[in-house]
Amino acid sequence: MTNAQLYEAIFHRKSVRKFDMAPLPSEILARLQEYAGSVKPLDANIPYAFIYLGSAEVKNLLPVKAPHYICLYSEKKANYLLNAGFVLQQIDLYLSANNLAGCWLGVARPAKEVPKLRNGLEYVIMLAFGKTGEPLHRTNTSEFMRKNLSEISSAAGAEEILEPVRLAPSATNSQPWYFSGDADHLIVSRRKLNLLRAAVYGKLNQIDIGIALLHLGLSLDQQGKAASYDFAQAEVAVPKGYEFMVKVKNSEKRG
Ligand SMILES: Cc1cc2nc3c(=O)[nH]c(=O)nc-3n(C[C@H](O)[C@H](O)[C@H](O)COP(=O)(O)O)c2cc1C
Repeated sequence: MTNAQLYEAIFHRKSVRKFDMAPLPSEILARLQEYAGSVKPLDANIPYAFIYLGSAEVKNLLPVKAPHYICLYSEKKANYLLNAGFVLQQIDLYLSANNLAGCWLGVARPAKEVPKLRNGLEYVIMLAFGKTGEPLHRTNTSEFMRKNLSEISSAAGAEEILEPVRLAPSATNSQPWYFSGDADHLIVSRRKLNLLRAAVYGKLNQIDIGIALLHLGLSLDQQGKAASYDFAQAEVAVPKGYEFMVKVKNSEKRG
């Protein structure tokens, strides 16, 4: 799977919540697992692992049932939620590009019988996946229910770079991101939540930002640029009601 194929999937992907419960053929699962072993992290210093579960091993209060789940386990260090969004969104795009159905599940949990820790790594989030009889792809970006670019960005000259980021999925479609600065130095911030909402969405919201950063990385890559990330809280202005997450610097790709 190339970056160009993942990039292309951004414009057609959608969440699918109705699955054919027949397990996928073992070759398809093996190929997915091989791909999962090759995804790129946002921060290579955060240990993580994928665990594959079947439908009997997952508890979900909402009625989304799938034959397979890919769970991300991670060490809980700085930026682990951003990293979780970044790595698992590569799987979401891979599924779509390979005509498989997938859906992020923020409210599901591994069942009680599944160990909470794997080699010291804790469960963070999962994607349901499998085959479906439902339409898998959007044909036009007008089918995405998303904010307009002007609602999520004041960054000068970054319209083209940010269009695929605008289309990123987020928990409850809240799209908590905001982009300022300019095309070469994008400042990414996240909408602040009140205490009540933070208790429910505080973590998912950060995973959302990781997803947006993956789309941003693919978008820059498509334009021949490489991204570097600066998480240090700098003296940068972010809009009222938002908090600074990361500064993304772009440079021409070498070679
Ligand atoms: C971190 C995260 C958690 C999510 N959790 C759930 C969930 O628990 N149940 C569900 O049905 N959809 C869930 N979704 C899917 C979103 O509702 C969906 O991505 C969003 O509404 C945009 O729709 P789209 O993915 O079809 O473009 C989640 C998405 C993200 C990114």
